[in-house]
Amino acid sequence: MILAIDGPAGAGKSTVAKLVASRLGLTFLDTGAMYRAVTLEALRLGLDPADGAACARVAASLKLEFDAQGKLHLDGRPGEPALRSPEVTRAVSQVSAHAAVRELIVAQQQRIAASSRGVVAEGRDTTTVVFPRADHKFFLTASSHERARRRALELGTPQALEQIRADIEERDRKDSTRAVSPLVKARDAHEILTDGKSAEDVAQQLLAIVSGQAREGAR
Ligand code: DC
Repeated sequence: MILAIDGPAGAGKSTVAKLVASRLGLTFLDTGAMYRAVTLEALRLGLDPADGAACARVAASLKLEFDAQGKLHLDGRPGEPALRSPEVTRAVSQVSAHAAVRELIVAQQQRIAASSRGVVAEGRDTTTVVFPRADHKFFLTASSHERARRRALELGTPQALEQIRADIEERDRKDSTRAVSPLVKARDAHEILTDGKSAEDVAQQLLAIVSGQAREGAR
């Protein structure tokens, strides 16, 4: 079984995907973490994030593995917390825009799904490119104000709200307008606006849709 969840940064995808994966006993697949890993390694090697060929060589040689907790390891080393650093967050849109990088990472994501009982994948193109035939597709959104508020709470920096909001809007713009696999809502995805809802509420909403569709399918 494959559940695919896409949406912009800060819409709550990863918290919701983790909850849904644990309720259904499926593997949580954090696709953004894999692009962050390539970015982290490229920066560590002193490469230019704009250099597609160099970034693709990193994507081809770096060994990426998720542990049982869904945390990503790079050549056997834990990626957290460096994967979430501001330097990586700033450069990842550039690295993930290279077609050659995406081809390699998408193939790995498909291999991970094929070798497990089922996955809950979240990212920007999981409903459109990685798993176009997913059993269930969702598009999670929230206003940029709400997304900035959540990120500021997470970072413990409420005073930086406006800067965080500007960064989020800039990343949305880059993710939605890039030539390769831009962030778009799949035609057959359920759109869910998460403003004012807890992750638990949203997870329940997804699970209700999944079980409703399973009943429909059984008729
Ligand atoms: O979800 P995140 O913030 O960890 O994602 C990091 C970046 O990776 C984000 O700017 C968009 C990119 N990304 C992507 O291009 N495709 C995906 N499937 C997931 C993330």
